Amino acid sequence: MNFIRLGVAMSLCGSLFATAGVMAQGDAEAGAGKIQVCASCHGQNGASNNPEFPSLAGQVPGYLAKQLNAYKSGARENSIMTGMASALSDEDVNDIDAYFSSLKPPVRSLDESQLEDARKGEKIYRGGYRPFAIPACMACHGPGGHGIPPTYPRVSGQQSAYLEAQLTAFKSGQRKHDIMNPIAFKLSLSQIKELALYMSAVN
Ligand code: HEC
Ligand code: HEC
Repeated sequence: MNFIRLGVAMSLCGSLFATAGVMAQGDAEAGAGKIQVCASCHGQNGASNNPEFPSLAGQVPGYLAKQLNAYKSGARENSIMTGMASALSDEDVNDIDAYFSSLKPPVRSLDESQLEDARKGEKIYRGGYRPFAIPACMACHGPGGHGIPPTYPRVSGQQSAYLEAQLTAFKSGQRKHDIMNPIAFKLSLSQIKELALYMSAVN
């Protein structure tokens, strides 16, 4: 069943490549005036250096709105973000999405000591992992990790600790998603770590 769903998603993914360039629905200028409270964790420019807080800058338009709505509805659970998102109207959500997606994403580099692990992550990111039928991540997240609007998020420039935490949450089922749950379920914790390092620095 999971494989069938994955197959459908992969072909959907292909057709989205052709329609890349989707515009955000909100007003970025209005959004800039609505993010004071967010900036204390996510940074004024949408790129925090605290590994616990994800970067929002340069995310594909539409993805952050989907996530804010998921926190609001309880479909995605996080005690901090549920409170933050529930204070936002639909218009606020779209304006904030437009603002952060218009900013330049951060570029991250790795220490020498992380390169060996990142190279292992690169193999799976680009080629998948055949023994467990894990698909190449780049099919949906893009060869440079830039994502495909509005569904497939950017992973490049993201905090590796955040990426690792999300893959672990998909693996355990704490964060629910039809495509990502079966993929992460089959990844080992060391593969997750290697992928997270690679994705944060790929460009
Ligand atoms: C006290 C710190 C804090 C504040 C303030 C905060 N956030 Fe967050 N935000 C987080 C954390 C931690 C996460 C990761 C939650 C998780 O694991 O689901 C997160 C995740 C997110 C995500 C999901 C990102 C992704 O890549 O999936 C979005 C979107 C977001 N925040 C937007 C906002 C907005 C908009 C505001 C202001 C209205 C805000 N946040 C305020 C800490 C904060
Ligand atoms: C068939 C398409 C597809 C493939 C292949 C895929 N992903 Fe995803 N991924 C998604 C979608 C869609 C989401 C957004 C989930 C949501 O909306 O909550 C996502 C979300 C994520 C996130 C969370 C990002 C964030 O900002 O919170 C990470 C990390 C991730 N994927 C890593 C991977 C890795 C690693 C692989 C390869 C082993 C992979 N993905 C393969 C479609 C895919």
